[in-house]
Amino acid sequence: MATLFEETAIKDMMMRNRMIRSATWEGMCEQDGRPTDKLIDWYRNFAQGGIGLIVSGYTFVRPEGKGLPGKMGIHTDDFADDYENLAKAVHEDGGKIAVQLVHAGGQTNAINAGRQPLAPSSVQVDQFPEMPAELTKDEIRAIITAFGQGARRAKAWGFDAVQLHGAHGFLINQFLSPLTNRRTDEYGGSIESRSRFLLEVYQRVRETVGTDYPVLIKLNAADNLDGGLETDDGVYAAKKLAEAGIDAIEVSAGTPASGAENPAREKINKPEKEAYNLELARRIKNAVSCPVMVVGGFRSFEVAQKTIRDDGMDYIAMARPLIREPDLPNRWLQGDHSTAKCISCNSCFGPGLEEGGIYCVIEKKEQEKAVKS
Ligand SMILES: Cc1cc2nc3c(=O)[nH]c(=O)nc-3n(C[C@H](O)[C@H](O)[C@H](O)COP(=O)(O)O)c2cc1C
Repeated sequence: MATLFEETAIKDMMMRNRMIRSATWEGMCEQDGRPTDKLIDWYRNFAQGGIGLIVSGYTFVRPEGKGLPGKMGIHTDDFADDYENLAKAVHEDGGKIAVQLVHAGGQTNAINAGRQPLAPSSVQVDQFPEMPAELTKDEIRAIITAFGQGARRAKAWGFDAVQLHGAHGFLINQFLSPLTNRRTDEYGGSIESRSRFLLEVYQRVRETVGTDYPVLIKLNAADNLDGGLETDDGVYAAKKLAEAGIDAIEVSAGTPASGAENPAREKINKPEKEAYNLELARRIKNAVSCPVMVVGGFRSFEVAQKTIRDDGMDYIAMARPLIREPDLPNRWLQGDHSTAKCISCNSCFGPGLEEGGIYCVIEKKEQEKAVKS
């Protein structure tokens, strides 16, 4: 019977448990996407805290694919030393790390993208802060090439895997979604055509890194949005990827425009609210043969353990709880099974935009209160 704390492998990537740090933009890079020492220390902390695999914050493959300030960039060979130091820091503490490759598409603004954002179609929808320009076929080809180049760099710089960001309303997800993809060429229309961009990106990445290197994806199984990606189509994309050789699928759902059902739901304060993407992940698990990871609202040891032991998931992934407690995996391993301290308030976003890096605002307030009393 599978358990949370057992060693597993994806290809040659050994992981010390079945817990994944889900990608979390930190806002700790320089303007051009170069990682800083602060970011390297941040990742070292997770490795010391015992997580099985760290997925990096989303990392843009081309400058106009940048979604937020302080985001990591992997669009240039100039950052080799910085990234090598980052991967080394994680490995020194027994961790494993994947780079999450992304293009923000229309889900950004001209300030971050440095130009009018690009998207599958030029449509004004809630998901897009500004009207994007429709991608030409040459631009599509250039972005596919950039995903391949990003993966090449990640592998050359010592990272253990790459994860394609196919969730949360970013470019790959925009192609999958009929709301944001209104194209009439071979990239739009039926789900077969809407999946074409994703599968071409995957194929390019696979050709670049070879068959032995782990290539993962975080995939929306549904957009939780009127007119957006529906589950049957999400399952179709997962199935195609699995047939093409993807090494694991992390299942998520929602976009920033999905209201209460956005990817990072608030007020996860009882076990029934946890694991909110589990049913979608089950649908995908039943359709594919590769390992499935599920993210969204894991807070208690019991739910995490049950998801692995009884619900058939291969990995559980967490983002916000590890901002507050990077050592949560070790705490649970050592027998302190109390629930994660994260209250799912999403205040952690703010300092990423305003103070040069995310942190748990609640924890800071508690510390300040303790000092005063
Ligand atoms: C501050 C912050 C940054 C995030 N950045 C990313 C990201 O870069 N890529 C991604 O796929 N998801 C990102 N997410 C979503 C998380 O990975 C995760 O899917 C979501 O928070 C639900 O998991 P949780 O309940 O464990 O936090 C972010 C979430 C937060 C709170």
